[in-house]
Amino acid sequence: MNALVLESVTVSRGAGPVISDVSLSVQPGRITALVGPNGAGKTSLLESVSGIIAPSGGTITVDGASLATLSRVQRARRGIVHIEQGRAVFPSLTVAENIRLTAGSAEGVEAALARFPELEKRRSSAAGLLSGGEQQMVVLARAFASRPRFLLIDEMSLGLAPVVFMRLLPMIQQFAESGVGVLLVEQFTHLALSVATDALVVSSGRVTYEGAAADLAASPDILHAAYLGS
Ligand SMILES: Nc1ncnc2c1ncn2[C@@H]1O[C@H](COP(=O)(O)OP(=O)(O)O)[C@@H](O)[C@H]1O
Ligand SMILES: [Mg+2]
Repeated sequence: MNALVLESVTVSRGAGPVISDVSLSVQPGRITALVGPNGAGKTSLLESVSGIIAPSGGTITVDGASLATLSRVQRARRGIVHIEQGRAVFPSLTVAENIRLTAGSAEGVEAALARFPELEKRRSSAAGLLSGGEQQMVVLARAFASRPRFLLIDEMSLGLAPVVFMRLLPMIQQFAESGVGVLLVEQFTHLALSVATDALVVSSGRVTYEGAAADLAASPDILHAAYLGS
């Protein structure tokens, strides 16, 4: 099956499981939003997919092949790209140099800049001089240059105003339009659901809702229960 598939994944940290028996699939060309309160286990789940932490149970496969024996770098080479929570640019490198770190070639940098025209005019600026929103664009351009098949995005809006984050959403949609499967973890739930096709709510390490993003957006009671009931 042409997808990233998690089956009954359990992730343990310290005292016990922080993710219990979670199953989900991320399809190419679709955006799956993963929402839920702080401490629900969202970051831990993404870390188990990209290989930062090993799950204590369950399976994670891409196109039916298990990732279990693959290191983080090997997973990245197979197109599993993780934009980690709080991911920053290298402030003293220029925008183009930041992108060059993941692009395989100078042509790869140009292709990324062509995709992110707002960065093209800042290509020679030190990335640390850009606004917070522009720096996150650099992070997205770096992800684009590494040619993901599946893109895991963890709280990209951290430290940004909602209006600034909104400008990044079409760029995330572009990934999906070009065939990338996106797993989007986001604190601005309604914004995430506005671009997502599928949605999961995670609460205390378990999936408490799974369905169409539009249905969840229209059911505030489900979200309230997840946020208040954990
Ligand atoms: N490095 C760690 N060591 C031990 N426990 C951790 C670590 N990181 C997170 N946790 C715990 O795991 C649980 C899930 O955290 P996390 O995956 O960061 O959730 P979320 O991203 O949904 O806020 C929390 O109870 C948190 O305290
Ligand atoms: Mg988190």
